[in-house]
Amino acid sequence: MKRKILPDTLIGERLSLRPISPADITAVLVYSSDPDVTTYLPWHPTVDAMVVRMFLQQQQDRRRKGTSFGYAVTERASGEMIGAIDLMGLQSGHPGNCELGYVFRRASWGLGYATEAGALLLDAAFQNPGILVVDAYADADNIGSQRVMEKIGMQKVNSELRIVKGRERIYFHYAIARTQHAACPVLGVAL
Ligand SMILES: CC(C)(COP(=O)(O)OP(=O)(O)OC[C@H]1O[C@@H](n2cnc3c(N)ncnc32)[C@H](O)[C@@H]1OP(=O)(O)O)[C@@H](O)C(=O)NCCC(=O)NCCS
Repeated sequence: MKRKILPDTLIGERLSLRPISPADITAVLVYSSDPDVTTYLPWHPTVDAMVVRMFLQQQQDRRRKGTSFGYAVTERASGEMIGAIDLMGLQSGHPGNCELGYVFRRASWGLGYATEAGALLLDAAFQNPGILVVDAYADADNIGSQRVMEKIGMQKVNSELRIVKGRERIYFHYAIARTQHAACPVLGVAL
């Protein structure tokens, strides 16, 4: 059987990750509509269910093509979806590189969840010998996100100027190579 690029399910201490889908629309609208959540994201807050459904459909299509792996992050204790995390840009112009991104609902910030989900996904990514480097980018003012990247072992590589939502912003580029990665305790993986 052909090996999957990434597993469908990842289970950590407090969180589990599974493929995100259009069925997650209600939970996604909770954070996609929150201006606090989108402050440092490249999109404006939206309550438009059609836009969100299209995005989720796109995520599903990209997973099928093997170019992007979007996961719903669920709190195991409550069973609630609290955010999303993805690995994007596989098979892009830089073979072996891909990009990590994440977003969590406001009510679940500050509990170490982004760190746990990020560590789980990085660990799964580096189980695949084809993935050599994982990149991530954060607005220079997004201290929380930079801290998450540092806590999961990524290092700042450089900075770049971007135009985001019509404004000039400095973005920090973080990266981790498979040779720098130390495995984290994944409790379960299902292909
Ligand atoms: C950034 C974000 C993912 C952090 O998620 P989280 O689950 O709160 O992060 P964690 O609880 O794992 O925190 C990791 C570290 O960051 C720190 N941190 C988190 N938010 C912070 C903030 N706003 N300011 C300063 N430090 C912060 C935590 O204290 C912790 O560090 P510590 O262990 O040294 O105390 C979350 O705030 C979010 O979803 N923001 C909106 C979307 C976003 O910005 N995504 C990233 C785009 S690059």
